[in-house]
Amino acid sequence: MKPIIKSFLFSALILFTTESTIAQNMSVKMTQKNDPKWWKEAVVYQIYTRSFKDSDGDGVGDLKGIISKLDYVKSLGIDAVWLNPIYTSPNDDNGYDISNYREIMKDFGTMEDFDLLLKEMHKRGIKLVMDLVVNHSSDEHEWFKQSRSSRDNKYRDYYHWWPAEKGKPPYRWSFFDVNSDAWKYDGQTNSYYLHYFSQKQPDLNWENPKVRYEVYDMMKFWLDKGIDGFRMDAFQFASKDTTWPELPKGYEKNIIKYYGVGPHLHEYLQEMNREIFSKYDIMTVAEGAGSSPEDAMQFVDPDRKELNMAYHFESVDIGKHLKDFGLVKYKEIFSRYDEAFKDKGWLSIFLANHDQPRMVSKFGNDTTEFREISSKMLSTFVMTMRGTPYYYYGDELGMVNIRFNSIDDYHDVDTRNKYIGLKNKGGDLNGFLEGQKQTSRENGRTPFQWDDTQNAGFTSGKPWLKVNPNYKTINVEAQEKDPNSVLNYFRKLVQLRKKEPTLVYGNYTLLDKENPNVYAYTRELNGKKLLVLLNFTDKNSPYKIGIPVAKSKIILDNYPNTKQLNNSMLRPYEAIVLELKK
Ligand code: GLC
Repeated sequence: MKPIIKSFLFSALILFTTESTIAQNMSVKMTQKNDPKWWKEAVVYQIYTRSFKDSDGDGVGDLKGIISKLDYVKSLGIDAVWLNPIYTSPNDDNGYDISNYREIMKDFGTMEDFDLLLKEMHKRGIKLVMDLVVNHSSDEHEWFKQSRSSRDNKYRDYYHWWPAEKGKPPYRWSFFDVNSDAWKYDGQTNSYYLHYFSQKQPDLNWENPKVRYEVYDMMKFWLDKGIDGFRMDAFQFASKDTTWPELPKGYEKNIIKYYGVGPHLHEYLQEMNREIFSKYDIMTVAEGAGSSPEDAMQFVDPDRKELNMAYHFESVDIGKHLKDFGLVKYKEIFSRYDEAFKDKGWLSIFLANHDQPRMVSKFGNDTTEFREISSKMLSTFVMTMRGTPYYYYGDELGMVNIRFNSIDDYHDVDTRNKYIGLKNKGGDLNGFLEGQKQTSRENGRTPFQWDDTQNAGFTSGKPWLKVNPNYKTINVEAQEKDPNSVLNYFRKLVQLRKKEPTLVYGNYTLLDKENPNVYAYTRELNGKKLLVLLNFTDKNSPYKIGIPVAKSKIILDNYPNTKQLNNSMLRPYEAIVLELKK
């Protein structure tokens, strides 16, 4: 084929596939309110490369490993993959400390592997969203090496420095520092540098336009390769109030308020949009977006031309287990956000990611008796809410927290540094370790469980993090064979979401608001009304929705062979989706 024709056909194909498929279906009338976009209709699957599949036996997952499993990924029915950072990094924070933004981390492979991965994904109709980690770099990035070398180096202002002759800088809290102090003294130039995360993650100075344009350039590098979007890591912290005011008392109760959404953040996002996003058909999502629905709207209001969507953290940051804060509060949070976004803007829906424990261990019940049924119930929730579902690898199997007993099992800078800090203060280390069994991020980072062979089929070497011993029973191979498995139920849910615009764009209405056990809501679009009933407990639970359901049709139930809805009672962790008929 002549190159010019080939290229025309190729762009036509791209145009076609990036448009909203629902909008193409003329039988569905869309209103301005729910302005259709492909990224609203997409289901995103998150892959933590380090733990997905190792191809070369070094115990670390890699890009070739992902390539070898793309048919599995495709079989889930998902539309896009978000990959945690795969760039060169000394791995102080597992790749969230980047020392070269244009190279692939050696553990994960080469740029050729990346190009092949992208090609193979696109071949299968899967889009690729990359992590963009630019609130900070690694201290081993060339920019920082230069910056710290002398006060008049041309990279000095790429980071935030405080000269020691001015005394100690005004206190700033750090997420990962052993002493929770975000300023680190550096003898080379007798100055302190700022790091909101670990000491090896110095914060970039976004006030400096050179930094911003370096970042835009780097973003172009990846977009021109053909990637389909960015997940903006910790970007809400990028703009700092460089007058460095003292923090008010009690600041630690609302860190985001004092650290997030600095004075120029939205200017930077608008500039980034003008310079980069507006030139590509991609999706962009903010990790964290202030501390209220109003804050979040500022990031994603289409009129402001910043980002496409945001995660809010209110629903995952409210406690160790759903039992601690209660379902009524939980429903209130989701309903409040939905209300604020019902006319414009867009959110993502997620229950887990690489910074969280496993979904079923936190919001469901991971005992042998209820693990499967409660995993299915939670997946039903994620797939039937308004917002783009982000689904974390392993949750489709109902993987659970590993609950390490010893600090030696942990690799995570967050857990380890908090442990050291506490030890230095003579704190309760056993209590801390008990807590980590519920909250540690590594609960959700254990290797993917492919089969019941050694190391769950993840690696032929020694896995970088212990494999959960339950892999003998919880694994892909076993679940493929079982039509009622968590995995096969997840696939059904994805299919349902894909073919049912009501689940994507339909209005959400909460029912039976004060019910402490059941989450009930309707989704409604163009006269079609779906009812979702979810029992979040291990008991039979009554509900009252005040809607006649006699003629309704069951579309999906997580208990097999349900023929009819019990009018007033749900079984333990039952999840039902019905189409209401008059
Ligand atoms: C984000 C990432 C987290 C990382 C932190 C610092 O919260 O999700 O894993 O540790 O940013 O980059």
